[in-house]
Amino acid sequence: MLKIEHLTKSYAKSNVNAVDDLSLELRPGEIFGFLGPNGAGKTTTIKILTGILQYDKGSVSICGNDLKTQSVAAKHSIGYVSDSHVIYDKLTGREYVDFMADVYGVDVHTRKERAEKLLDKFELRGAFDSQIRTYSHGMKQKISIIGALIHSPDLWVLDEPMTGLDPQSAFQLKELMRSHCDEGKTVFFSTHVLEVAEKICDRVGIIVKGKLIMVGSLAEIKEAQGDSSLEDIFLSVAGGGNE
Ligand SMILES: Nc1ncnc2c1ncn2[C@@H]1O[C@H](COP(=O)(O)OP(=O)(O)OP(=O)(O)O)[C@@H](O)[C@H]1O
Ligand SMILES: [Mg+2]
Repeated sequence: MLKIEHLTKSYAKSNVNAVDDLSLELRPGEIFGFLGPNGAGKTTTIKILTGILQYDKGSVSICGNDLKTQSVAAKHSIGYVSDSHVIYDKLTGREYVDFMADVYGVDVHTRKERAEKLLDKFELRGAFDSQIRTYSHGMKQKISIIGALIHSPDLWVLDEPMTGLDPQSAFQLKELMRSHCDEGKTVFFSTHVLEVAEKICDRVGIIVKGKLIMVGSLAEIKEAQGDSSLEDIFLSVAGGGNE
């Protein structure tokens, strides 16, 4: 589904690796939570996976397609929700979702069906024909999610998706992640909310200073760490990461 091998990237003028020899494999049907302190390399990894950033070393394969040599096919399998709402705010919600559906070649009937389901879930129907610039933070987050799911991607990648969502919408998003994975698809998301990770992730990974230092199911991680809480484990391994 997603295979990352020895991924390494440093930014220009930096002598440290933002992502450092990171290897990870995700299976179909799993929700994977990507945890780590501020500046650990989560967004950098996610932007590499989605083809936004180039990388220096290693390889990324998505649904069997190499991100460098088969980039269009690889990107076709991804739906991406960024941590900042870089969406076209002069478009209405409907125009934006139509644009995303056109990009991914989703037919008119299917896009309508999917959009309606998601609009109801997120109670966004009333604002669908308003310009996105008039949306609140949470509403922008919701329309980004709808745009990212309109082609029903095999791999759904979200960078801190719970930020700005009200409790109801956060609940709906968690439900969506689960139902997406129940269909055999995969979710990869970063979060600072450990309770969310504990509740919905099949596996989590902790990244500190660009290195993936721990990966496994919560039960496995807790057992390996002497049955501490995820918060205690996170604080003990990530404590020195915030500089
Ligand atoms: N555009 C950039 N140019 C130079 N350095 C950058 C750039 N973006 C990020 N970095 C650096 O790369 C490292 C990883 O940053 P990244 O944004 O990936 O962290 P993160 O884990 O997503 O953090 P957060 O939890 O705060 O979102 C940091 O040291 C950061 O300063
Ligand atoms: Mg980030």
